[in-house]
Amino acid sequence: MMLPPSHPDQATKWENVILPPTKDLHKIDVYRQGGGYGALKKALAMKPEEVIEEVKRSNLRGRGGACFPTGLKWSFMPKAGTKAKYLCVNGDESEPGTFKDRQIFEFNPHLLIEGTLIACWAMGITAAYIYIRGEYGKWIRMLERALEDAYSNRLVGENILDSGFTTQIYIHKGAGAYICGEESSLMNSIEGDRGYPRVKPPFPAQVGLWGCPTTINNVETIANVPVIIERGAAWYAGVGSPKHPGPLLVGVSGHVNQPGVYEMPTGVPLLEIIHKWSGGVPGHKGIKAVIPGGSSTMVLRGEALEGVRMDADSLKAAGSSVGTAGLIVMDEDTDLIAVITRIAKFYYHESCGQCTPCREGTGWLWKLLTRFEAGEARMSDVALLMDVANNIEGNTICALGDAAAWPVQSMLRQFRDEFERRTVDRPDDAPVSA
Ligand SMILES: Cc1cc2nc3c(=O)[nH]c(=O)nc-3n(C[C@H](O)[C@H](O)[C@H](O)COP(=O)(O)O)c2cc1C
Repeated sequence: MMLPPSHPDQATKWENVILPPTKDLHKIDVYRQGGGYGALKKALAMKPEEVIEEVKRSNLRGRGGACFPTGLKWSFMPKAGTKAKYLCVNGDESEPGTFKDRQIFEFNPHLLIEGTLIACWAMGITAAYIYIRGEYGKWIRMLERALEDAYSNRLVGENILDSGFTTQIYIHKGAGAYICGEESSLMNSIEGDRGYPRVKPPFPAQVGLWGCPTTINNVETIANVPVIIERGAAWYAGVGSPKHPGPLLVGVSGHVNQPGVYEMPTGVPLLEIIHKWSGGVPGHKGIKAVIPGGSSTMVLRGEALEGVRMDADSLKAAGSSVGTAGLIVMDEDTDLIAVITRIAKFYYHESCGQCTPCREGTGWLWKLLTRFEAGEARMSDVALLMDVANNIEGNTICALGDAAAWPVQSMLRQFRDEFERRTVDRPDDAPVSA
């Protein structure tokens, strides 16, 4: 029996639409019995521009980290021209704390395939690539099986559902590089080149895969599309927070009793996610800090969580971002210097090396942090650490540099006292920084 994990009280709170608790939903027959591929049929009866309008009206915002409005992104694709057009569905999912697309591969892969087909129809695309994290062996096999079944049911390929529309879907496996989740590196990787980010402009909608117009969307973003077409944009726009609506897959990890991926409307308070959905903090300990949206988002203090909600605006106002809704919870006993040192090591390891500030700066951040961790840093290293982070932020081709700088900057701003306490030359009677 295959069921997505769900909260015991979830049925009374929220009806899952991305990961419904239907047994064996990953099987094509089960998916179709529940009405699956009905949204595709509906979309094929609409004009492509009507589908884009519907997605625009739904206010769907990308689930890949930047919250960019999906319908608007789709409308950037040129309507005229003779060049091929491509869709890349981004399932690289390599950011620490982020593991929600995996649930779609496992529990509802046909929703993703159906969404991919609708997106292709809307944008006049005849080939889509689903880029999947290379380490996801089990989930690659599950997705391949689902795609084979969709092909043999003539839902993908030539003349889909006798509509005259033809499109192909290919699965492309990554090879273990976080940078290949960045959209332009992803395209280079598909082309067989080194996963280096490209300079923008030109943007992918003009010059993308093999120099052709391309749209890149996250797996969860695309999985929302059949729901919008089936239930209508008005329904979708009314779910959760009005400016960032819809169902959201929230991955909770760290110090909670029931870590996992929970589907909920956007806008649920972070404290409710921790205490109700995820079973609270083990031993009823206090919360020292949380990282709300995957390791690249800014850390928040536990005391500052009252009233903060899991949506783009609320987290922005709180000084962080929703990112990929990968909520990492750290209890009162957590050694935050150890946490940030480990995060910094990840970014150092994953920097592609193309831009000097990131290539050199991420290593420098990590080395400085190991000094703090070992209790060998000097007071002047606190300012130096911030200076190095500030010199990476905004000075690189892609956002990996920012992703490396933000956790360090925010940890320093929020918990400066912890850094100062780990220095060798801090006078014992020095006041603790706020
Ligand atoms: C270093 C780096 C890694 C990224 N990794 C992913 C990823 O694994 N999955 C993803 O969807 N987006 C990732 N992104 C964001 C993509 O560049 C892109 O914005 C996203 O796929 C767009 O999808 P959306 O509009 O549906 O959110 C990453 C960005 C950076 C800078």
